[in-house]
Amino acid sequence: MMLMQRYSLIWDCCCDHGLLGMSLLQKHQAEKVIFVDILAHQMNTLETKLTKYFPLNQFDWEVRCQDVKTVIVPDVAPQLFIIAGVGAFQTIEFIKSLYASAQGVEFDLLVCTVHGSHAVRQALIRLGFKLKSERIIVENNRFYEGLYVSTVGDERIVSTGNTMWNWSDPLHQKYWEKLINHYTKKAATDPDQFQPVLAQYTSLTQKGTDCYQPNASLV
Ligand SMILES: C[S@@+](CC[C@H](N)C(=O)[O-])C[C@H]1O[C@@H](n2cnc3c(N)ncnc32)[C@H](O)[C@@H]1O
Repeated sequence: MMLMQRYSLIWDCCCDHGLLGMSLLQKHQAEKVIFVDILAHQMNTLETKLTKYFPLNQFDWEVRCQDVKTVIVPDVAPQLFIIAGVGAFQTIEFIKSLYASAQGVEFDLLVCTVHGSHAVRQALIRLGFKLKSERIIVENNRFYEGLYVSTVGDERIVSTGNTMWNWSDPLHQKYWEKLINHYTKKAATDPDQFQPVLAQYTSLTQKGTDCYQPNASLV
């Protein structure tokens, strides 16, 4: 778990079965958890489950069948939004609309997209978010980036990731190779957009380590 503090309010956005939010309720990570998803039947099922396992006389939660793009960030602190398991394009849309609705209210974000962390990072950088922590997550042979950021702070976000890389970890090397392969293909079809991204990832290993010798065929 990447979270560094307890929150007054946590939003489990695009919660689906609500597993993430339920584990946060279980750990008392927040005074209240709001579950948001656009699927009505899923939210009905979730509400029944929460009522059974997290009775409202012991836990505080709310289920909202709502488009995340219509959520208005309330003036509550500290407050966290979690967006996990959604594609980069949608994640960026959600972040932009939350940021616009917040009107200066501070909040933290925990983001874990299915693909396209580079684009999500660039959007966060443009909006002025700051890094709290970042992590490479490997699950069922798939790679994800866990990005924990805030509207306030000092540490800048780097579009290729920075502190998350451990170059002596073979899984991190494998993830890097996957990214290089992916952006090599993208750069072949759209060099203007993706050659710079490829160059950023390629230069990471030159900066980051003397102990990792990337596969020469890849770079
Ligand atoms: C793959 S699930 C994510 C599950 C969960 N967050 C996780 O990490 O395990 C994606 C969910 O996003 C929901 N979703 C898609 N667009 C949405 C939107 N605009 N507003 C709210 N929920 C949305 C879908 O209904 C679906 O339940």
